[in-house]
Amino acid sequence: MNAQQPDWPDPDLLRAVTGRLGAAPPLVFAEECDRLRDRLAAVARGEGLLLQGGDCAETFSEVTADAVRGKLRTLLQMAVVLSHASGLPVVKVGWMAGQFAKPRSSPVERRGALTLPSYRGDAVNGREFTARARRPDPRRMERMYEASVATLNLVRAHVRGGFADLRQVQEWNEEFVAGSPLAERYARTAGEVSRALAFLRASGVDRSRLRMAEFFVSHEGLLLDYERALTRVDERTGRAYATSGHLLWVGERTRQPDGAHIDFLSRVHNPVAVKLGPGTEPDTVLRYVDRLDPARTPGRLTFVVRAGAERVRDVLPVLVEKARAEGARVGWVCDPMHGNTVTAPSGHKTRDFSAIWAEVRGFVEVHRALGSHPGGIHVELTGEDVTECTGGGTPVRAADLPLRYTTACDPRLNHAQSLDLAFHLAEVYTAPLRGFAGEPPCPAAAAAD
Ligand code: PEP
Ligand code: CO
Repeated sequence: MNAQQPDWPDPDLLRAVTGRLGAAPPLVFAEECDRLRDRLAAVARGEGLLLQGGDCAETFSEVTADAVRGKLRTLLQMAVVLSHASGLPVVKVGWMAGQFAKPRSSPVERRGALTLPSYRGDAVNGREFTARARRPDPRRMERMYEASVATLNLVRAHVRGGFADLRQVQEWNEEFVAGSPLAERYARTAGEVSRALAFLRASGVDRSRLRMAEFFVSHEGLLLDYERALTRVDERTGRAYATSGHLLWVGERTRQPDGAHIDFLSRVHNPVAVKLGPGTEPDTVLRYVDRLDPARTPGRLTFVVRAGAERVRDVLPVLVEKARAEGARVGWVCDPMHGNTVTAPSGHKTRDFSAIWAEVRGFVEVHRALGSHPGGIHVELTGEDVTECTGGGTPVRAADLPLRYTTACDPRLNHAQSLDLAFHLAEVYTAPLRGFAGEPPCPAAAAAD
């Protein structure tokens, strides 16, 4: 079964494109993928957290220095808060440099009398509702490759340059807190981070060592023509790696245990992830473990659960217990976005911050009750001030949605909402230390609408 693949109209052109991609340099290296697997092994063992975030759908026009910098900055700011709160290293993974293809619930879109192929991401066709734009064009996969090269180049340059300097990142966080209506609530966490950094400086830790120098990229491994063409055998080990990104995952619509996507992931040596929706059969989880991680190597397999705020407390315990009973050593991460999507009266697809937070909180509490590790979050976000999700510390109201709704697919947390999520999560991760006994009221969430 080859779910969610485009109907490429011109097989000769497709062959020519995949041939060229097959000869192109890798975007990432096997050693980097191995390093990420080691970092994720710490997450699976309960000694690290995964922070994975970026656009639901990257677009060619948004591959700009500002947009990439904004996402990176947001993720680094969140990472500082989470790392300090949990006392654990945070593995930073962008959904970036490859998130250009999307699964769709219907292969076609109807508007009035016209029916056209659905938009499947810039890697496949154009968003404009015309027959010409919607025709799948394999040459777009080469543009995806080039856009990914440009994005990675910016990411690598920023991370090596001064951008990841912890003091700089903390200054941005202090600015965020100072301007937030929830400043009082966040002040304690922000103040503790600042004091910790001041202490390190005073202790003589060199500024060049106060940096977050590691950043990885990931995307949904959806478009098999692209992924297969970019698979390379590592000369050191003779093993195959997907070289389109460090980590690839399989989504809710393509995770059939006998399907082509799980088969593809089983053949590459990268760290991989599988999304698990609320309908996941516990036995299927075991099939993923057997297919993708037969040796039970921590760091190889991460499960990203997207059950929805209403279901997470029912769905998650069974999955975790089942995996544990089988001796699986996987990472557990929460995607609080895809189970909480609603349509606003204006017709915009949206998610409310309070539902997103409720799912994350449920996820953490379930793990705490089971004695397993809530290994992190997988979120759709941008560094910009968009109005796509409602609520948050500086609440976006339903009436604001049309103002700056620019996503090419699902609604993303804006910069401030992303930091709200990190500061909320910080309270939960530090809870055992502070004797945290319940969430303080969040007036903003109540005011959202
Ligand atoms: C997505 O990441 O945009 C997506 C479609 O997620 P899921 O596979 O969990 O539905
Ligand atoms: Co999405």
